[in-house]
Amino acid sequence: MIILGIETSCDETSASLIDFTEKKRLILSNIVSSQIDIHKEYGGVVPEIAAREHVKNINVVLSACLEEAKIKPEKIDLIAVTSGPGLITSLIIGVETAKALSLAWKKPLLAVNHMYAHLAANFLNPKITFPAIALIVSGGHTELILLKNHSSMKKIGQTVDDAAGEAFDKVAKLLGLGYPGGPIVSKEALNFDSSNPQSITLPRPMIDSHNFNFSFSGLKTAVLYKVNKMKSEEIKKKTSEICFEFQEAAVEVLTHKTIKAAKQFQAKTVLLAGGVAANRRLRSELENKAKENGLNFLVPEFQYCTDNAAMIAIAGYYLSKNKKVKLDNWKKFKADPGWELE
Ligand code: KG4
Ligand code: ZN
Repeated sequence: MIILGIETSCDETSASLIDFTEKKRLILSNIVSSQIDIHKEYGGVVPEIAAREHVKNINVVLSACLEEAKIKPEKIDLIAVTSGPGLITSLIIGVETAKALSLAWKKPLLAVNHMYAHLAANFLNPKITFPAIALIVSGGHTELILLKNHSSMKKIGQTVDDAAGEAFDKVAKLLGLGYPGGPIVSKEALNFDSSNPQSITLPRPMIDSHNFNFSFSGLKTAVLYKVNKMKSEEIKKKTSEICFEFQEAAVEVLTHKTIKAAKQFQAKTVLLAGGVAANRRLRSELENKAKENGLNFLVPEFQYCTDNAAMIAIAGYYLSKNKKVKLDNWKKFKADPGWELE
């Protein structure tokens, strides 16, 4: 079964073709056109600019995707597109393009939830033992999901304020380090020699709360208070230590709650997903703790952690197994910016 995935929920325009069999998934192409360099200037994604860039890029990305995969549209069995959550101005470009292709090529069209797709990036490995606990950490969401199988899930916890990636981005911004903050903060943290005594400590918000929710807004504010008390020379000197301690605090809370959930729900596997899953410290810490507790651990390769259309195609494959997708589905199709996993 060949699936075309399309993703335009934020600032990446992406298209991917994957050939699925029961046992194997062959990624024929996964083209990602990132707008990061354009939005950098503004310190974050500007929706209006993102939409214009998607309009400019979508056909180029789609034709590069077909060309690299050496696939004619007739061979495609299903089109899967991100319908939400995300920026409405961005989502609508992918959704309307997918509807046009569905009509023109006479191919069924399936709506994919972007957060489900992030965790489905782990299904590139078809051997997963369930139940599983998935930690999805991105720029807009931080969620713990209990999975009974590939497509049956329940949200058991989420952030009550900022998302983990958002906190990385805000901390980078207040330290004047640029956008997106996650990769910059984690690189800066490497410059701190952790064998030295630390002069900065930050809270681990909600680490002992009796639920599976998170809070990152207070952690970011704690960084802000520390920085406000320092002279600019001191900030410069301590930037790597602040980044190190901030990353330690975020990783500790995320890891602690994920393992606690895995134990409580007797999970066999822990899955990590979303843009922040590209963080090396989080990957290694969660893997170590999962293994210490006898749990399997899976995380996608780096390129499938941040936004990409391969994860949309994979999600489409598992969703289509339980659903008859009609050919005229495009008629009732709409972008849904607030679409939350239940
Ligand atoms: O999943 P994603 O690509 O887009 C959304 O759906 O939001 O995630 C983007 C987020 C950004 O906040 C970015 O700073 C964060 O992922 N991120 C990281 C790293 N790479 C990307 N956060 C921490 N460490 C990283 N290495
Ligand atoms: Zn994402």
